[in-house]
Amino acid sequence: MTPGQTIKTFTTKKGNTVVIRYPKWEDLDDVLAFANNLVEEEALLALSKKQTRAEEAKWMADTFEKIETGKKIKLVAVVNGKYAGNCEIRIHDNRESHVGDIGIALSKDYRDEGIGAELLTTLIAQGKNAGLKLLILYCYENNDRALHLYEKLGFTRSGLVPGTFAYKGSYIGDVTLYLPLK
Ligand SMILES: CC(C)(COP(=O)(O)OP(=O)(O)OC[C@H]1O[C@@H](n2cnc3c(N)ncnc32)[C@H](O)[C@@H]1OP(=O)(O)O)[C@@H](O)C(=O)NCCC(=O)NCCS
Repeated sequence: MTPGQTIKTFTTKKGNTVVIRYPKWEDLDDVLAFANNLVEEEALLALSKKQTRAEEAKWMADTFEKIETGKKIKLVAVVNGKYAGNCEIRIHDNRESHVGDIGIALSKDYRDEGIGAELLTTLIAQGKNAGLKLLILYCYENNDRALHLYEKLGFTRSGLVPGTFAYKGSYIGDVTLYLPLK
């Protein structure tokens, strides 16, 4: 991976220009703002606590180390020049080194215009190129948009663990989905 390298550029149905690229160190402040906006929004994600710049820098250092050692694949979406989201595959090890868990999030301003679909499709292709055979996703059971997108891209629901996430005063179940790569 070459940091910052562009993988794909396209225009959305709303006319926004999207670049899908690899992450780079210079993203740090944009990622920090992006992540903390998701926390503030109470997006349907595991992350619930705002990050400091130092915590985010540590996270990024860990990410780059994992990318370099083949433990992670990460892509960034930039919309009209603005950092707008990212996605990643966290690759397992030992007997599960052919398996990866997916995470994806876009900022509120750029949802529902097909960017998530492009980003995830590109990520899946990269996982396949890396030799992965199985992708797994975990998703809040009430995240209808995400579940719709995942099933549209071929993921199958394999189960629900009830009450996993404490969210706005109630407990929300965690849906597992999987996609075999052929
Ligand atoms: C989930 C997420 C990555 C999807 O990306 P996106 O760019 O918004 O998704 P897309 O526009 O590519 O596709 C969304 C699809 O869901 C559909 N959709 C939107 N709201 C929906 C709802 N309430 N119920 C069902 N489907 C819905 C859209 O119509 C579209 O489907 P279509 O292409 O068949 O018309 C993005 O919305 C996001 O980051 N959300 C907040 C963080 C999050 O939830 N991350 C996932 C955690 S598992």
